[in-house]
Amino acid sequence: MSKNISFIDGLEGILKYREIDINQLVELPYDAVSYLLIMGELPGDQELADYSARLRGEREINREAIDVIRMCNFNIDSMEALRTIVSFISQFDPDINDNSPEGNMRKAIRLIAKIPTIVAAYHRIANGKEPVPPDPSLSHGANFLYMIRGSKPSDLEAEVMEKDFILSAEHELNASTFSSRVTASTLSDLYSAVVSGLCTLKGPLHGGARAEVMAMIDEISSPEDAEKYVLEKLAKKEKIMGFGHRVYKTYDPRGVVFKQLSRQLAEAKGNMYWYEIAEATERTVIRELVEKKGKPIYPNVDFYSGVIYKYLDIPPKLATSIFAIGRVSGWIAHCFDQYEKKKIIRPRAFMLDEC
Ligand code: CMC
Repeated sequence: MSKNISFIDGLEGILKYREIDINQLVELPYDAVSYLLIMGELPGDQELADYSARLRGEREINREAIDVIRMCNFNIDSMEALRTIVSFISQFDPDINDNSPEGNMRKAIRLIAKIPTIVAAYHRIANGKEPVPPDPSLSHGANFLYMIRGSKPSDLEAEVMEKDFILSAEHELNASTFSSRVTASTLSDLYSAVVSGLCTLKGPLHGGARAEVMAMIDEISSPEDAEKYVLEKLAKKEKIMGFGHRVYKTYDPRGVVFKQLSRQLAEAKGNMYWYEIAEATERTVIRELVEKKGKPIYPNVDFYSGVIYKYLDIPPKLATSIFAIGRVSGWIAHCFDQYEKKKIIRPRAFMLDEC
């Protein structure tokens, strides 16, 4: 079962969730893809309506959580606050110690529904504004942008946000999913497993790379400067954020979609600036590393998604938390699979030599 949650062909650049190619999945609502990951098959119309209604009904967070957000440090990345609040709200979940499949499903719905609300409330309070309550008439993506801004996004922005969540939702046994699975393998609760995933996602070699890409685009500051920036970094043997992948030895298929979406957004907003900086960076990295050195270092999932966040006016501090909004469905799918196995994950130390 776990093998089928997703499938990656790192040489051909193919990614499937439950045997369906991501290029097909991005045409669906996030809720349908979340259902697919967790339940193992695509929902019918009624099943999707029920699942979406359950998610929309659980979006609100309690006043205690808002009070704790008000006490957070807003000078640092939002991931510190997100992992704290997810852990905090677990105490109020009536099913916290019910590890039955039904109890776990209720917790799953709450986690998927509430994480965007926590991130948006953090952002509003950090900027001296009051949180915006969720709007149950809006999709997962549109509602998130609405809660951040206090106004409804354009159709294109909402569509891009949905696709961002879908493309971030699952990626086999990546570091954060592995962490979540290890926690679930001890039969600990789903909140604990998700907090483990959050802690691991935060690292700059994993989900944290997206914020670093945004900082890099700002640092480069013009398309003409991209080549100089890349050459200097490579001369210092430093890595270019948003490039390279442990599994893909070709273009990351999620990166292909993100590149198209970022171009679409740039055109719609009549501002090609950040897109052109990104393209010039990509051209130089490919020329220097792929063509001259034969290293398979292409843009990964974090590169053009970082560009998209700039066009959506999302600050770098939120980038990793937004990755988590999408990824939580994947973590939960893996945890459910692990709970069924009822077997602890306990590798031997010598296996680390192969990592
Ligand atoms: N820029 C420049 N050189 C690179 C890069 C890069 N981004 N990535 C790999 N290389 C080079 C590296 O210097 C090494 O060269 P050499 O063999 O001459 O020493 C070679 O390629 C292999 O690198 P590695 O670090 O051993 O490869 P890995 O499979 O262990 O690491 C990676 C994969 C993603 C951690 C790495 O490519 C990296 O650090 N990339 C930048 C950070 C980043 O974008 N992370 C997001 C990863 S994708 C999303 C996710 O998993 O969350």
